[in-house]
Amino acid sequence: MSVLERFPRVFEIDLKDRKIIATLNLTPGATFYGEQLINIGDGEYRVWNPYRSKLAAAILKGLKNFTINYGCKVLYLGVASGTTCSHISDIVGEEGHIWGVDFAPRPLRELIENLSKIRVNVSPVFGDARHPERYSHLVPKVDVLYADLAQPDQANLVVKNAKIYLAKRGWVLVAIKSRSVDATRKPEEIYSEQAEILKKHGFSILELINLEPYEKDHAMIIARFDA
Ligand SMILES: C[S@@+](CC[C@H](N)C(=O)[O-])C[C@H]1O[C@@H](n2cnc3c(N)ncnc32)[C@H](O)[C@@H]1O
Repeated sequence: MSVLERFPRVFEIDLKDRKIIATLNLTPGATFYGEQLINIGDGEYRVWNPYRSKLAAAILKGLKNFTINYGCKVLYLGVASGTTCSHISDIVGEEGHIWGVDFAPRPLRELIENLSKIRVNVSPVFGDARHPERYSHLVPKVDVLYADLAQPDQANLVVKNAKIYLAKRGWVLVAIKSRSVDATRKPEEIYSEQAEILKKHGFSILELINLEPYEKDHAMIIARFDA
């Protein structure tokens, strides 16, 4: 078994029969969504499933600009029960923090029970991303905004939140589900349209990655907030 650090704190492990990506478990022994644990040397790694996490899918589809680092502050829109958030929590480590917003009580309750009770770097925020001003008493300025809302006005919601919370030259990672915008049009058309909305509001687009075959009709946009 060999381990290669593909990005800071994101590892590629060669298991002989297959290659996987993983993060180093910040809370050894704990798992969050049934993921496999692998011990190599002194480290315990959590296997990161690209069929369960769009960020893992983007990495495996060749993401070049990995903008989430140790110590980063992250606002996560659409955190759900915390599958992807748990890996971002490994990456930002003890010095970083994630504020995870969701408006659905059930997944947020799971996030609290399974993740934020164990991980001190994750704060659940019960809120609606359409009204970002309502959680301003809980969320500070952040370095990265990650959004996975599966909503028709996804790019506009990112802009609204970025204007309040994202530091200048901060990064956004936005998962776009084309069927949530319009199921009758070509996904590529919708991805470009969502990227154009971000551009119009002062973002520079660095990458647009199609997430198939891991996620059908999904793409990930990586952009920098230059406004
Ligand atoms: C595709 S799921 C997110 C999966 C999660 N990002 C992961 O990788 O583990 C989308 C989530 O966005 C939430 N959501 C959708 N619209 C929202 C809004 N306006 N405000 C807050 N949460 C929203 C849904 O409740 C749902 O939990």
